[in-house]
Amino acid sequence: MRTSRDATTSKTTEHEDIEHPSNQYESTERESRPPVPFEGRRIKAAVIGTGAIASGSHLPALAALAAEGEVEIVAAVDIDAEAVKRFCADGGVPHGYTDLDRMLAEQRPDLVSICTPPTLHRDQTVAALRAGAWVWCEKPPVPTLADFDAVETEEGTESGPYASIVFQHRFGSGARHVRRLIADGAMGRPLVAHCQTTWYRNAAYYAVPWRGKWETEGGGPAMGHGIHQMDLLLDLLGPWSEVRAMAGRLVHDVQTEDVSTALVRFESGALATVVNSVLSPDEVSRIRIDCEHATVELTHLYGHSNENWRITPAPDAPVEDVAAWQDFGPDVPSSHLAQLRDLVASMRAGERPRSSGADGRTSLELITALYKSAFTDVTVRAGEIGPGDPYYTALHGGAPGWAPTTHEEASA
Ligand SMILES: NC(=O)c1ccc[n+]([C@@H]2O[C@H](COP(=O)([O-])OP(=O)(O)OC[C@H]3O[C@@H](n4cnc5c(N)ncnc54)[C@H](O)[C@@H]3O)[C@@H](O)[C@H]2O)c1
Repeated sequence: MRTSRDATTSKTTEHEDIEHPSNQYESTERESRPPVPFEGRRIKAAVIGTGAIASGSHLPALAALAAEGEVEIVAAVDIDAEAVKRFCADGGVPHGYTDLDRMLAEQRPDLVSICTPPTLHRDQTVAALRAGAWVWCEKPPVPTLADFDAVETEEGTESGPYASIVFQHRFGSGARHVRRLIADGAMGRPLVAHCQTTWYRNAAYYAVPWRGKWETEGGGPAMGHGIHQMDLLLDLLGPWSEVRAMAGRLVHDVQTEDVSTALVRFESGALATVVNSVLSPDEVSRIRIDCEHATVELTHLYGHSNENWRITPAPDAPVEDVAAWQDFGPDVPSSHLAQLRDLVASMRAGERPRSSGADGRTSLELITALYKSAFTDVTVRAGEIGPGDPYYTALHGGAPGWAPTTHEEASA
């Protein structure tokens, strides 16, 4: 259900707590919510972390829904007081904070966008859920499957609050159309797929101290760059069953890998190759799926619209079927806005949003298995990495030659 009650947004930006930053996420009781929590009013949204993705994607998406009467942006938080002041001034956000707990207590947002570095995602998501807010957390979701499972236990059991991961490439008209075609078996069974995130990052990119390290970046291109394409592949093809992988450190002076390749078998029987790199001068993000009666291709870099998709029918495919496959409908590009619309609709319906819970965990589980396979030279099966497995709590799994040495940890 959509509502359109107008809410006024103060033009004055206040900075409530600049003098009293703290990093404690101590609230323990989830606040109770009425059964239809957002009926007749705007959803109150707050942004945590006011850097590049917050300014470039979250703020515009929230502002678009604010203009439609759906949301009201009530506050922003950053440990950098100047950054949050600038963000609030640029975006007309009324309340700026450097303390997340204080913001949660004073503003009581319904929805929190988490746009901070990955190592902070777990604690900040938990703090927001415990304060009764739904969460939209940037990728990569959290550093490990153990962290993901810990977050999931903090979600509400009925009608939220839930924590959803930003996987904007799943959204928009192209992905929706192809997902439906594959799910309906319209083009026959999917048989073989290629999933490629072959990007280029130079030495200056890796000169930034937190990059290239497990502790601070979370992983190499499999985790930080290829996650979007792998997530979309899984969204289109459904559950995977086994993976065999290799990883290399071929160009950059990093702890993590700078390239990986993987062979993935899906429960459907389909096979896929996956390549993630940051050393490929001709950059592309690409998915190709050969079904029995057509090949589907998506070729883009950081986002797609209908024109980035191509469906090539087998020679004997019926003409009227081909016309339906190639009709993507009105163009809705993949974007933060497309996902946020979906999330807000789920909030209003009190339903678990897409890209949350088990549906938000799939790519992290595949990536964890990819690293385990690459570093231990074994085939890893879906579901086998759980408590007690070293890869459950660290993506490097403590593997010799890949895990940071004590000296590296001390200087990270
Ligand atoms: N979905 C996408 O396509 C996409 C694209 C780029 C980045 N990202 C993800 O977005 C996240 C942020 O990336 P970015 O490029 O915006 O980084 P950034 O460095 O530009 O911004 C991060 C901000 O978080 C702030 N911050 C740090 N610690 C904080 C704390 N404890 N509390 C509040 N704020 C804190 C920093 O001061 C900074 O302003 C990362 O997880 C990244 O992977 C996603």
